[in-house]
Amino acid sequence: METKIITINPNQLHAEHIKIAGDILSSGGIVAFPTETVYGLGANALDADAVKRTFAAKGRPSDNPLIVHLAERNDIGSIAREISASAQRMIDAFMPGPFTVILKKQPQIPDCVTAGLDTVAVRIPSHPVAHALIAAAGVPVSAPSANLSGKPSPTEARHVIEDMDGRVECIIDGGACTVGVESTVVDASGKHPVILRPGGVTFEQLRAVVPDIQIDEHVLKSVSAEETPKCPGMKYRHYAPDADVIVVEGQKERVQAKIAELLAQAHEKKTGVLTMYDSSYPADLILSAGNNNQEYAQRLFSHLRRFDEFGIEIVFAEFCEQDGYGLAVRNRLYKAAGNHVIKV
Ligand code: TXA
Ligand code: MG
Repeated sequence: METKIITINPNQLHAEHIKIAGDILSSGGIVAFPTETVYGLGANALDADAVKRTFAAKGRPSDNPLIVHLAERNDIGSIAREISASAQRMIDAFMPGPFTVILKKQPQIPDCVTAGLDTVAVRIPSHPVAHALIAAAGVPVSAPSANLSGKPSPTEARHVIEDMDGRVECIIDGGACTVGVESTVVDASGKHPVILRPGGVTFEQLRAVVPDIQIDEHVLKSVSAEETPKCPGMKYRHYAPDADVIVVEGQKERVQAKIAELLAQAHEKKTGVLTMYDSSYPADLILSAGNNNQEYAQRLFSHLRRFDEFGIEIVFAEFCEQDGYGLAVRNRLYKAAGNHVIKV
């Protein structure tokens, strides 16, 4: 199929272009669109055939449920039920924004969206293009990240074009995503809220609103295929570039010494380093992770793709645990590395 590419400036929305994309969505087509976190692959969440085509376009396993995106908080009741007081506090504090809440679902949501679960993931993006598109479509929009399954999530339209050109009806180019990692997923369908995936809203921000919030034990450890984690997506290999990734974590000088040693051993391969400290190494490509974990989050996925563009075979990623965005960065780094982590 020929994919229509539409460029929309988020600061100056072009109503006609938004309407074209909204009509494609509401008539059963797939539209990739920017959000503040990463690009999403949108379909009408009430149209099971359209939803199934997003799974096919990504090569995504059907047991991994999708997030349903809405334009307004008032719409939540149409897809979810039993909103607890703590769920409501999080909705008021973090929506619209890089936050997803798991609630009991309404029966009208097709099983393919929720992978047969009795809960639904709900998100209201703050990105102006996403908001306008969902409002124009006039339906709830299911959207996984717009990458081929297993690849780093797309934070720029060119990443989406790389993975999805010819597979979907339309791709909206709305520039680079500002957060860079996906939304924080919180399960609010049980007694205590639980973070299933760290992301654009930090643990500290959540704890200030719901002090009893917990972090699921799977967030920071590897998950074998036999287990059934609460967030089904966590069991799959994720965010993986073609290159092997090795995370070297710890105090700055020790991290630098270890990477220097590993580079000396890997001299026959094309090497890359993702550096937090603007370190200089004898590597083929060194990319800066920025000055803090928020910048690291912003750059991580696009840098992983850049290493592939340069044919890098092995990437050493510096990491130092910090609060805030550190939890999300570490989670994505560990997955990109298939849990190949060296602590020094
Ligand atoms: O920032 C984001 O959340 C992006 C943008 C496009 O909104 N979307 C995104 O979707 O990251 P996806 O499909 O790549 O990740 C959704 C995650 C998966 O790990 C999935 O298992 C989990 O949310 N999830 C969805 N519905 C769930 C449910 N009912 N219960 C538990 N986890 C669920
Ligand atoms: Mg994804």
